[in-house]
Amino acid sequence: MPKTFYITTPIYYVNDVPHIGHAYTTVAADVLARYHRLRGEDVFFLTGLDEHGQKVQQAAAKAGVDPQTHCDHLAPQFQHLWTRLNISHDAFIRTTDRQHKTFVQEKLQALHDKGLIYQKAYTGWYCTFDERFWTEKDVVAGLCPDCKRPVEQLSESNYFFKMGQYQDRLIDHIRKNATFVRPESRRNEVLGFLQNQKLGDLSISRPKSRLSWGIELPFDKDYVTYVWFDALVNYISALDYLPQKPSFDRYWPATIHLVGKDILTTHAVYWSTMLMALELPLPQTIFAHGWWTVNGEKMSKSRGNVVDPNAIVDEFGVDAFRYFLLREVPFGHDGDFSRDALIGRINTDLANDLGNLLNRTLTMIERFAKGVVPQPSEDARADHLLQRQAVQLPDLVDEHLAKLEFSRALESMWGVIQVANQHIDKNAPWKLAKEDKNKPELDTVLYDAAEALRIVALMLAPFMPQTAEELQRQLGVGAPSAGRQWGGLKPGTPIAKDNPLFPRIDTTKTQGESRVSQDQQPGSAVSPSTPAPAAPLAATVPQETPQITIEDFLKVQLKTATVLSAERVPKSEKLIKLHVDLGSEQRQIVAGIGKRYEPESLVGRRIVIVANLKPAKLMGIESQGMVLAAGDKDVGGLVTVLEDVEPGTKVK
Ligand code: MSP
Repeated sequence: MPKTFYITTPIYYVNDVPHIGHAYTTVAADVLARYHRLRGEDVFFLTGLDEHGQKVQQAAAKAGVDPQTHCDHLAPQFQHLWTRLNISHDAFIRTTDRQHKTFVQEKLQALHDKGLIYQKAYTGWYCTFDERFWTEKDVVAGLCPDCKRPVEQLSESNYFFKMGQYQDRLIDHIRKNATFVRPESRRNEVLGFLQNQKLGDLSISRPKSRLSWGIELPFDKDYVTYVWFDALVNYISALDYLPQKPSFDRYWPATIHLVGKDILTTHAVYWSTMLMALELPLPQTIFAHGWWTVNGEKMSKSRGNVVDPNAIVDEFGVDAFRYFLLREVPFGHDGDFSRDALIGRINTDLANDLGNLLNRTLTMIERFAKGVVPQPSEDARADHLLQRQAVQLPDLVDEHLAKLEFSRALESMWGVIQVANQHIDKNAPWKLAKEDKNKPELDTVLYDAAEALRIVALMLAPFMPQTAEELQRQLGVGAPSAGRQWGGLKPGTPIAKDNPLFPRIDTTKTQGESRVSQDQQPGSAVSPSTPAPAAPLAATVPQETPQITIEDFLKVQLKTATVLSAERVPKSEKLIKLHVDLGSEQRQIVAGIGKRYEPESLVGRRIVIVANLKPAKLMGIESQGMVLAAGDKDVGGLVTVLEDVEPGTKVK
């Protein structure tokens, strides 16, 4: 029997459309579900909606519809978002499902029969927003200690669950089970809370006169169930009716309940004691993650800064969003969302590091190995650094994901990507390709880069499923790919190079600056082969060129670069797209040298570029720098460097 893995997200209130906070937990749960499925485990991934209670009733009233209509209207918005985010949940629960309601009533009846629920008159300070009573000492200046909204004094008779009697048992359980509440700081928080005050009993009913939208108590028709008592039960009711056949014994206790830090107490204390009363085992782990702010501010409707995941996916794509959510902030910490941070991640990690590695590896396999995975040879392997790093990667990812350290798992993948890029720079396949005798070394360097990428793709799949599939397709790996061992890529298999995975996002453009995009002539004497984006370095140099100081000249950063690949820009006579190596980085440069040169003749050339020129677009393609060439109207020749200096060397 395979190991089971049962993961849940909170069930979200349907008082509004989903936002980045909802997406965060759900994406994190999805990564874990996918990862455990890849390990061959029997996974059950549950998410859903919390449809009862005051918040939903109020939202429905505001919309002028009855609560059920309101829920039925909003539920598809969550389901649609999960489809867009590639969420692979096995079941979707709604607490208005008939079977869930019956299940909750059965459990309430059982606890009532056991004498664990009793009725009591109560007077206290009630916070409508948090749907809970506070004691006199909690309330400061008439405000709720939690949400700081005004509280009102209410007197009512309610049903109470004997939660208090489980206090010692719960403390003991948390002490004995180091991974029951995670991360450690949250575990200490819960322990502190339980050790420093007497745990009271929990009011689990609301009189219908005050709130009618809920599950009726089976033993008193004048009351509905408190929304949390109804909602938490979803984690077990779902197992009863949502899988093909009832699966309680198969999946309970849950492996992980993922929750936000604000709802840790309800899970660690209410839910745990409810389970104790029901004589059921407690979940293995409750993990509380942090909250997102937006541009440094709390996210709220009134501030108008609520991040809509749909809009992000529209603009940046689903995998970039998934990557950002889990890479940017260590899971468990609070984090800040901003457009700049997202674009930074896309341009650096995804376009520059990962996209570039795939592109240059495949370009060179096409050029130097006839477009098929080359045959590596052990004797020709100069060093084993890349191979070692790639082979260790799966174990590292296992270690990190066992602790829900998503960002560290991704960091370890990017470690391999970095080493692979350095491996290419160091071994310079374009130099090896100059002599036939180097063929074994050349093939081995290219194989190693491609095989390292295959292993990265395998580990990346749970995080970025579409990207991993695309990596595998372009690398010529049949999905499901060949496993964790080195050597999965089969020599002789055709690769399928395609468009770059993550085109760089033009940040100047997003800030509203206009870009040059015409196909222009190279200019005069020693001219920039890429037309400049703005006036100061325009292609036509004035007749009377004013003198400049050395400081002016030093503002222009000239560097040597080696051409890694070159191809014509479709529909342009003059433009050639170059992919150049600058030692520490690679760049794409569009140069107007197509009338003078055939692209093939440029590969391996040592040229000079302007390295600190603002990127510009030519015929829609980004150029990250400019190639120097001699010539007036027509290009006479490229500026090159006589000696074999390293790519990226300063020219002055
Ligand atoms: N319905 C309850 C959960 C019941 S589970 C049995 C609920 N719903 S909620 O829709 O208000 O919140 C759901 C989750 O969203 C919580 O885990 C909460 O922490 C999370 N987030 C809400 N805003 C958030 C951020 N700004 N950032 C990250 N997560 C946030 O509570």
